Amino acid sequence: MKKIQVNINSVLSTVSENEIHALESAAAKPALEKLKSGTGEGNDFLGWLDLPEKTPEHHLDEIIAVANDLRNTCDYVVSVGIGGSYLGAKAVIEALANSFDAYTPAMPGSPKVLFAGQNIGEDYLYELQEFLKDKKFGIIVISKSGTTTEPAIAFRLLKEQLEAQVGKAEAGKRIVAITDAKRGALRQLATEEGYKTFVIDDNVGGRFSVLTPVGLLPIAVAGYDIKKLVKGAFDMQKECLNEGVDNICELYATTRNCLYRAGKKTEILVNYNPKLHYFGEWWKQLYGESEGKDHKGIFPAAVDFSTDLHSMGQWIQDGERTIFETVISVENSAHEKAIPSDAANLDGLNYIAGKRVDEVNKMAELGTRIAHVDGGVPNIRITVPELTEEYLGQLIYFFELSCGISGYILDVNPFNQPGVEAYKSNMFALLEKPGYEEATKAIRAKL
Ligand code: PA5
Repeated sequence: MKKIQVNINSVLSTVSENEIHALESAAAKPALEKLKSGTGEGNDFLGWLDLPEKTPEHHLDEIIAVANDLRNTCDYVVSVGIGGSYLGAKAVIEALANSFDAYTPAMPGSPKVLFAGQNIGEDYLYELQEFLKDKKFGIIVISKSGTTTEPAIAFRLLKEQLEAQVGKAEAGKRIVAITDAKRGALRQLATEEGYKTFVIDDNVGGRFSVLTPVGLLPIAVAGYDIKKLVKGAFDMQKECLNEGVDNICELYATTRNCLYRAGKKTEILVNYNPKLHYFGEWWKQLYGESEGKDHKGIFPAAVDFSTDLHSMGQWIQDGERTIFETVISVENSAHEKAIPSDAANLDGLNYIAGKRVDEVNKMAELGTRIAHVDGGVPNIRITVPELTEEYLGQLIYFFELSCGISGYILDVNPFNQPGVEAYKSNMFALLEKPGYEEATKAIRAKL
């Protein structure tokens, strides 16, 4: 099977091959060794490293069986979670789904996956509940800690609605909880209510959890082949963790750190395929939460081209020269569409009549790359043969392993996220959560 590829030719006017190779030997290879030997910081969160290899077939079969139960009983399944308990499933489903899936009716045995708990939008929740009135729906509630406010609010509302619509007993059959093995409010609730549960292992952090039931169950409910997804990830694990020759994870991690050291402080993940929009969101969390600490870290941004060439294009071409791009280039689209000829040719497009739309897209990509490199924006290119479960699995594992290596090159602990707590404690203090009395007084004094 083909593999995804990394091409760094278009960074070499900013950093040299020698610099990249020197940093690869001095920092990336030791970083990979630290990950493999479990001797680096955050080593209690390395469960994701060999997860594709260690995921037994029967575990995937169990996830598929539970997904099929939901598929057979529900027209809509709401996946409730935030951050790492949301973005992986959303990214994979959006990458594989028909772009107009949301506008077509749910068919028996083929439910739509909706998402909640990823925001505190009152209108969002109101409109979701209105939509679900009289609909056959189920819930996957996902929270590793079991105490996160956003999904807890959404789940409380949806659970109440489902119980009112179908009764407590039937609701209990249509709710699946994915949480810690023992700790947290969600575990206790699931035990008390008798929900089907899956465990998020202690040693897999939220943003690295897409290949656990956290991502796999919603993806399977949406009708995609999670065995192929895990197989793709395993192929990448074999290539970059187990064998390690011409290691594309080391290459990507090293190159982005060389660029960072050369003053390129922001990395823009670019796609030329709108199906990858949420993949960019997943990637932003993976790199932002892993690397942005100790007052260091490349700022991860993402754009959809060519759409955003008409909004962000000016800044990227001509703004402050502190950015580099990483382009995910999908080699083959799933469908063919040629541009028709037109006798009047008022739009002047006949010069491309007969060409495929994707050919034009590829020229937009090439033209943009040349313009941006000429304008001082180095470009890393990741080619993906096509958008399938296998290649998405490869891409997920590629970015995860590269992230671990890159975090160690940067000399941070890539597996914690202490900065995420600051807003939560302020919010709890402002909402007068029991236990936060002193913090409430302190924050009120600042207002
Ligand atoms: O990566 C992380 O750890 C976070 O983004 C979490 O996934 C997010 O905060 C949700 O946490 P939980 O699954 O505990 O509700």
